[in-house]
Amino acid sequence: MRESDTMRTVIAGIASYLPQKVVTNDDLAQMLDTSHEWIFSRTGIEQRRISANDEFASDLGVVVAKKIISQTGIDPSEIDAIIVSTTTADRRFPSCACRIQGEIGASKAFAFDINAACAGFIYGLSVSDSMMRTMGLKNVLLITAETLTKFVDWTDRLTCVLFGDGAGALLLQLSSDTSRGIISTKLYSNGEQEKYNSILSHNGPQNGHRGYTTMSGRAVFKYAIEYMSSSMTEILSENNMTIDDIDWIIPHQANKRILESMCKMKDFPLEKVVITTQLHANTSSASIPLALRDMIDCGKIKQGDTLLFTALGAGLVWASSIVRL
Ligand code: ACO
Repeated sequence: MRESDTMRTVIAGIASYLPQKVVTNDDLAQMLDTSHEWIFSRTGIEQRRISANDEFASDLGVVVAKKIISQTGIDPSEIDAIIVSTTTADRRFPSCACRIQGEIGASKAFAFDINAACAGFIYGLSVSDSMMRTMGLKNVLLITAETLTKFVDWTDRLTCVLFGDGAGALLLQLSSDTSRGIISTKLYSNGEQEKYNSILSHNGPQNGHRGYTTMSGRAVFKYAIEYMSSSMTEILSENNMTIDDIDWIIPHQANKRILESMCKMKDFPLEKVVITTQLHANTSSASIPLALRDMIDCGKIKQGDTLLFTALGAGLVWASSIVRL
């Protein structure tokens, strides 16, 4: 038996960061043909944070990385790897992760980005967990940093009202305490391009702009319910658990109505579902760590709680994970 078989990847710290500028639905109604009532009743969103023109995904990542270093007291030289989930990297290369490594002085770490759209946090957990247990890495920074508001068409009222910017960071540590940590992750993709590109995608650079997010809202709604619920059911069953073993479900925060409909249609307990969509809107892969940090800060989620994460994003990609804090 390898040492790693008796070790667990545990969450040793969680930090989040939101850009300063708050934009409410009423603010959007000043510039678009929309209203608070329309946005709130269909999505649950009340406000979102929007990054400054010169504030990019790696900038958010640097701030949240510094926050977690100061929160946990870890010496940057002890960090073995920095893995950044982002759909909205500042540049095609170098990666956001490398820039963050340089800024925080994590001289021993290797660093790279992953892109699994809104499911990127759970993909990142899975990649980190596998690398930690197979390579014996002791400290990994998993960062999610997203600036989707730079990739929407601000004249397309159907999409631009849905998104916000933000970042999260987890310090993951390899521990011999097997009573907590990452219990399981399950990842799925379906890249049948022709069929799914029209559902949710980024159309690439256009006339000097970095390109826009396009979406078929009703299809996203349907697939999000179907795939998030099936992956939750599968991961629970594979781990001989039921929903009764879970204290909190923390889903990707795309849309409150998706989460309410999923609970109603698939019989998941809505009272266990964390919903922060009203505050942050859809921050892609940053949404789960942002929600987790908020729930810890308000005292709802505590050490020892068993959490079920689930998400769906462009690709399509979707994933679930069970973690004990
Ligand atoms: N304000 C006011 N009216 C609007 C707006 C807006 N912001 N956007 C669209 N409308 C209008 C449309 O033009 C349409 O008008 P019409 O009937 O005169 O043609 C009307 O509202 C209804 O439009 P629909 O597209 O049919 O609206 P629907 O009820 O389907 O709601 C929505 C749209 C909210 C996008 C819904 O489909 C949805 O919630 N989908 C999920 C999308 C989502 O959450 N995406 C997040 C990104 S994906 C992810 O993270 C996984």
